[in-house]
Amino acid sequence: MKETGNTDVKNILGLKLPTDPRWVNLAEIQLDEILTDHAYCEQKAATTCISLITKNPEKELLVEQLSPIVTEEWGHFRMVLAELKKRKLKLGKQRKDVYVNKLLEFQKKGGSPMERFLDQMLIMALIEARSCERFKRLSEGMDDEYMRKFYRKFMESEAGHYTLFINLSEYYIDKNIVRKRWKEWLDYEKVLMKSEEVRGDRIH
Ligand SMILES: [Fe+2]
Ligand SMILES: [Fe+2]
Repeated sequence: MKETGNTDVKNILGLKLPTDPRWVNLAEIQLDEILTDHAYCEQKAATTCISLITKNPEKELLVEQLSPIVTEEWGHFRMVLAELKKRKLKLGKQRKDVYVNKLLEFQKKGGSPMERFLDQMLIMALIEARSCERFKRLSEGMDDEYMRKFYRKFMESEAGHYTLFINLSEYYIDKNIVRKRWKEWLDYEKVLMKSEEVRGDRIH
C-alpha cells in the first residue's frame, strides 16, 4: 500500500494533527458502520448548506456558490446509499456525532452576527478538511482497490469544499479576522482529535 507522508495532508488542509494510522484498519473492518456514518455526514453537509442559504439570503455570492454544493452533497449521500444497497445493508439510524458536537462547543457564545456567521462557516471548513483527510487515508490505506477508488472521489470533492468555505468567509469578512479565528479553530480541533479515542465506526 502506498503511504503518503502526513505532512502532505497537513500542508494541503492546514490541519494540525494527522489521523492516527490505526484508524484506517479499524474502519476497514467496520465498513458497514463507516458507510452509515458517512451517509449521514453527507446528509448533514447538504442540510447545513441549505440552512446557511436560508439564514443568509442577502449574501448573493454565498447563495450562488452553496446552492450547487447542496446538490453535490446530496449526490454524495446517494452514492453512499447505493453502496449500502449493493452490500444489502440498511441505512440505519443516525449515530451521535461526538466530533461535530464538540466542535459546536467552541462556537462563540453571544458573539456578534458576524462572529456567529464566521464560526458557522469555519466549522463547515473544518469538517470538510477533516473529512477530506480521512477520505484520503481510506483511499490510500484500504486493502480493497474498489473502496480505495470509491473514497478517492469523495476526497477530491471535499478538498474543494474546504477552500470554498474559507474563501467565502474572506469575501464577507476581513481576511485578518478570518485567519486569526481559523487558527484558533485549528488549534481547538487538534486538542479535540488528540482527546478522542480512535474508533473505526465513525468517519470523524
Ligand atoms: Fe460530501
Ligand atoms: Fe463536502
